[in-house]
Amino acid sequence: MGKDVIVACDFASAKETFSFLDKLGDVRPFVKIGMELYYAEGPSIVRELKRRGHKVFLDLKLHDIPTTVKKAMAVLSNLDVDICNLHAAGTKAMMQAAVEGLTRPDGSRPLLIAVTMLTSTDQEALEKDILIREPIDEVVMKYALNAKEAGLDGVVCSPLEAGKVHDTCGKDFITVTPGVRFAESSNDDQKRIMTPADAKKVGSDYIVVGRPITKADDPLAAYERCCRDFIG
Ligand code: C5P
Repeated sequence: MGKDVIVACDFASAKETFSFLDKLGDVRPFVKIGMELYYAEGPSIVRELKRRGHKVFLDLKLHDIPTTVKKAMAVLSNLDVDICNLHAAGTKAMMQAAVEGLTRPDGSRPLLIAVTMLTSTDQEALEKDILIREPIDEVVMKYALNAKEAGLDGVVCSPLEAGKVHDTCGKDFITVTPGVRFAESSNDDQKRIMTPADAKKVGSDYIVVGRPITKADDPLAAYERCCRDFIG
């Protein structure tokens, strides 16, 4: 499995997305699209990105009963996304059903990764709202192990957790890590950050980078710098 830089296309429309991507010329990065863009544009945005030669991480974070997730994953598999995801909190049964739904008749399937605990959930919310009393980092590792045991390929996590996830789940279990910033650039609203070079050192498999590239004066130079620092 190759290391790669995934550009988070957090735009509201296909028009904005393609006007950004056009700034990269012939370079066709791996892109992540999320709920806002997908709900605005539907599957056509994925088809167009694939037609242009991009790999696509569709970040929809599914969480429902196993049968529903299985059927939804079959649709995403037919759309030919490269990575999709779900909430590990949906249980091992839901994750196993998701793997079944994604798997095509020839045995191939997109990569499937789990969100363990959202970074917006802190220990206090975990205890007061979700009634889980264990330390949050133990919950994250347990959810990562559940994902592995259910047959998933990896998790989304902070680069600060990538080493521990690999220690717990094995080095082939993929870590996809947002929260990446150049040393001199703004943190925006990210709190726990790492540079692309440090994310490489701690063993992240894919970094997800949004604003440091999408808001850069020269997005192509920023993307190429990420690739140089992270992939080498
Ligand atoms: O612009 P920025 O580099 O902060 O974008 C990071 C991307 O990764 C955004 O799409 C954000 O929603 C996503 N993400 C994150 N932290 C998580 C999970 C996803 O920043 N824990």
